[in-house]
Amino acid sequence: MNIASTSSLVRQYGLGLRCLLLVFLLVPLFTGCAHQPWDIDTYIQNLERSERDVDQQPDKVIKALDLKPGMVVADVGAGSGYFTRRFAKAVGDTGHVIAVDIEQKMLDYNKQELVKLGMADRATFILVKPDNPSLDENSVDLVFLCNAYHHVEHHVDYWAKIKSAMKPGGRVVIVDFYHDERSGNLSFSKHHLVPRERVIQNMEQAGLTFFKEHTFLSRQYFLEFGKA
Ligand SMILES: C[S@@+](CC[C@H](N)C(=O)[O-])C[C@H]1O[C@@H](n2cnc3c(N)ncnc32)[C@H](O)[C@@H]1O
Repeated sequence: MNIASTSSLVRQYGLGLRCLLLVFLLVPLFTGCAHQPWDIDTYIQNLERSERDVDQQPDKVIKALDLKPGMVVADVGAGSGYFTRRFAKAVGDTGHVIAVDIEQKMLDYNKQELVKLGMADRATFILVKPDNPSLDENSVDLVFLCNAYHHVEHHVDYWAKIKSAMKPGGRVVIVDFYHDERSGNLSFSKHHLVPRERVIQNMEQAGLTFFKEHTFLSRQYFLEFGKA
């Protein structure tokens, strides 16, 4: 293609290309997802917005998990602490929460909110690499991921590490958006989302057994797994 035809293309499609670029820049601002490089403060605001409770039903989720005082919960991909704070309350001062994330700023915000609630001593904050949850062996009663499973790329290997961190009788809980119309308008591509059936398959490959499902969340699956 010569210079004349290239500049004619730019003239012809210039506006379209600029619009496309704008869409790529704006869409991430309205999502709750970290696949795009949007600023962390906006991301935190999105995770913490009060309207989220309508669909997320955090109190009902916590109740369904049937946590007991003294339990150890790993909140993997804990983000701003939307669930970390609720776990800290549920496990009491004899229990503990391990908040794990790949973003230091998320962990900082998460900790700061727990400090405000006077519960900072109930949690540990760990900055991890994307392919390693960095949990000690045989240390956790519940590993919980909300809207984080689809971020974890090395599934089988990753889950083998999680499995070794679980105490006997320990559980893994995955809450994540359905990949289809059930999750409604997410304002980001559903391309990254993992179908419920594939999650179950991946986990069983890692030696974890699917044993319970809660169906009260309309936009997300809520699955429980135990050690085989
Ligand atoms: C959509 S947010 C969900 C946050 C929180 N679980 C919630 O429900 O509010 C996903 C979080 O997972 C973190 N994350 C992404 N990949 C991760 C990985 N491989 N390991 C740990 N955290 C990860 C992101 O930094 C982000 O804070």
